[in-house]
Parts: sequence; structure tokens; C-alpha cells
Amino acid sequence: MMQPEFLTFPDPDAVAAEAATRFLNLAEAAIAARGQFVVALAGGSTPERLYKLLATRELDWEKIVVFFSDDRFLSPASRFSNAGLALRLLPLNPKITYPVPAETSLDAAECAVQYERELVAALGPEPRFDLILLGMGDDGHTASLFPGKEALTARKLVTHSTPGVLPPPVDRITFTFLLINAARNVLFLVTGANKKEKVVRWRAGEGSVSTLPVLGVAPTEGTLTVLLDEAAGS
Ligand code: 6PG
Repeated sequence: MMQPEFLTFPDPDAVAAEAATRFLNLAEAAIAARGQFVVALAGGSTPERLYKLLATRELDWEKIVVFFSDDRFLSPASRFSNAGLALRLLPLNPKITYPVPAETSLDAAECAVQYERELVAALGPEPRFDLILLGMGDDGHTASLFPGKEALTARKLVTHSTPGVLPPPVDRITFTFLLINAARNVLFLVTGANKKEKVVRWRAGEGSVSTLPVLGVAPTEGTLTVLLDEAAGS
């Protein structure tokens, strides 16, 4: 299984600065090569610093196609929505920004099916993201791929999950490992002492995908980089 490249930085601001530089470089290269940059944004709280930095940089947002690697089954208007955070902080092009369709779906299962339809309609039957941003919960989950849940083995591109142990206790819609591992580049942002124990196990390759879901991220033909602050990675 491919080993991630773990890079440690002094603090969360330095992690965000490194992630912003990588984001800009990948965006420039993708737009030059294919006319657009196809990115999946991460949820949770860690990416907020990155999004605030990206909002100050020169990016061709008209050519940046945005999906979300997971989200809660909530309206983007909710303060717990991952899409809501990005929409508030970034000048995204609404024509090519795809929040999960929570407001027009009966339940999380239907929402996942609809989101996969939108993904395939926008990117084709074998979507390959230029960049997928991810975080890691202190239980070792990533996206909404929680320990012990069925979503870990879903053979679709997008699936749904009941809540994990971390708040908010709402159903989730999430990229699967199948979709994540097709990406050209996967970049994790992991900060905070509460994640240290799982980072140690991750670096040692200890455990299984079921107990430590981040172990399931292993791009078939892509890069895998984990940006850590010292609290999480020392
Ligand atoms: C979510 C996120 C989740 C997040 C981790 C880390 O919807 O909760 O997508 O996977 O990346 O839980 O969250 P923090 O950045 O808040 O620690």
C-alpha cells in the first residue's frame, strides 16, 4: 500500500500556507493542461485557515470546478455544513460548484445517489479529481468514512453514512475510497494534539481500514501528502 508523504510544519498557519501554495500550483497546472481545475474541498474546521488564505490569492475561480469530499445531510445554510463554510469564504463560481443536494433529497441515501449523478454528469463516468482535500478526525476517519461503517467498502463513487462518534450527529454523504483513490493528488491537512495518536499509528501502518480509515487512502496513480502541525505530528 502506498505510504503517504508526511510533512510537519510549526503550526496550523504554516500548514495552511503550504496547502495554499500547493493548491495554487496544482490549479495553475491543471488549467494550463486541461482548461479547468477539478477539486474536492474538505470539511470540518481545519480547512478554514486555508480557505481564508485562498480568498486572498489570485485564482481563476471561473475555471475551478468544486465538489465536496463529504458533507453533512444539511442545508448549506447550516453552520454545520461543509459546503456552507467554503461558500461563505471563497468566491466560488456557482455554475461549477456542487454542494451535496441535501435540500432536494428525501434522505441521505437518495442524496448520495443524486450527488453521484451530478458528479458523473459533470466529470464523466470515471471522474478523476486534480486535487482532493481531506482531513482526519481524532477517531481516524476521513471524509465521512468512519471506523466500522459500511461506507468503507462501498463500491460506488459516492455513498452515505450514519453519523460517526464525532459531532454533529447527522447523516453524511461522502466520497468513497474508489473515488478518492482515483485522484491525481490527495492532500490531507491534520492539526492538533488530539490527532497525534492516530497519526503515529497511520505512519506505522498499524491497524486496518476498518479501525483506522485513513489507511484506505492510497491513490492508484496519484500523490498522497499529509501536512501536519507539530502538535499532531511530532
Ligand atoms: C466532516 C469532515 C471530516 C473532517 C474531520 C476533521 O464532515 O466532519 O469532512 O472528515 O475532515 O472530522 O475535522 P476537523 O478539521 O474539524 O478536525
